[in-house]
Amino acid sequence: MQTISSTQPGSTQQPGPVEIRARLRAMWASVADGWAEHADYTDRRAADLTRLMLQRTDPQPGERVLELASGPGGTGLAAADLVGPDGEVVVSDVVPAMTAIASARAAARGLVNVRTRELDLHEIDEPSKSFDVVLCREGLMFATDPAHATSEIRRVLRPGGRVAIAVWGPRERNPWLALVLDAVSGQTGQPVPPPGMPGPFSLDDADRLAGLLSRAGLVDVEVTDVPVLTRAASFEEWWVRTAALAGPLSKMLESLPSPVLLAIEHQLRSATSTFQTPAGLELPGLALLATAKRNTA
Ligand SMILES: C[S@@+](CC[C@H](N)C(=O)[O-])C[C@H]1O[C@@H](n2cnc3c(N)ncnc32)[C@H](O)[C@@H]1O
Repeated sequence: MQTISSTQPGSTQQPGPVEIRARLRAMWASVADGWAEHADYTDRRAADLTRLMLQRTDPQPGERVLELASGPGGTGLAAADLVGPDGEVVVSDVVPAMTAIASARAAARGLVNVRTRELDLHEIDEPSKSFDVVLCREGLMFATDPAHATSEIRRVLRPGGRVAIAVWGPRERNPWLALVLDAVSGQTGQPVPPPGMPGPFSLDDADRLAGLLSRAGLVDVEVTDVPVLTRAASFEEWWVRTAALAGPLSKMLESLPSPVLLAIEHQLRSATSTFQTPAGLELPGLALLATAKRNTA
């Protein structure tokens, strides 16, 4: 194992929340091209999850939907047909390069009821009680203060409004990503994500997630396990795609010396071999889907 020192300019041992948020924004901005390239793939992979999010929040014609931490906007774009021409979907992300992808995808589909906005989960710059539905697929776990973000979600919901929040479940149920984080940490000697940074498994406990929503004042809170399978025709296809999408480590991988990269690849080839099927790689994953309502008061 080779210990790789941090390449983050100005990095400190214990960054504060403002510094952490700035680093998170920069990290996601740096992988926007990868998310643009693989946008259709990520939507296909999350298709069952998205279907459930929409089924449980049930957007109606004429309603207003807000998607948060949208990335390329797959969840919000899927809601656009449901709210129809009299409704509106606001697709938002803290990274403008991500909302630009969503905007281009909305235009390519001829969706005229979709608007994109740069919004931070922590301070949703939208009026109180202005949305019927809020959707957030694999984003809330990156909030530095998920309790505050959840209370912001409740604030922008209209009385009776519905919310669906999907996050990744426990690390051991998500080998599609856990194996990669383990291999990179193991070969570089650096924890991924770095200490203090919220990562993909920050909200992996169903009770904690339910408690977060309840404490924000949301009601009828339910958390459901949703399997999300990662398929790839080959190890190479999976690895290229994963490296391009994995926000917490894409840039780090680019900066590694090639022997370390080769060692990571070697470890992963071996670790994923148990998930080889005649059709290619099939790596299990588990999302937690939390749904709730704002009461009518
Ligand atoms: C794992 S991606 C998920 C993208 C998309 N929701 C999907 O399911 O394909 C996480 C997204 O969260 C966004 N994000 C991270 N922190 C955020 C914050 N504080 N406010 C809004 N968006 C944030 C990132 O820019 C990134 O686009």
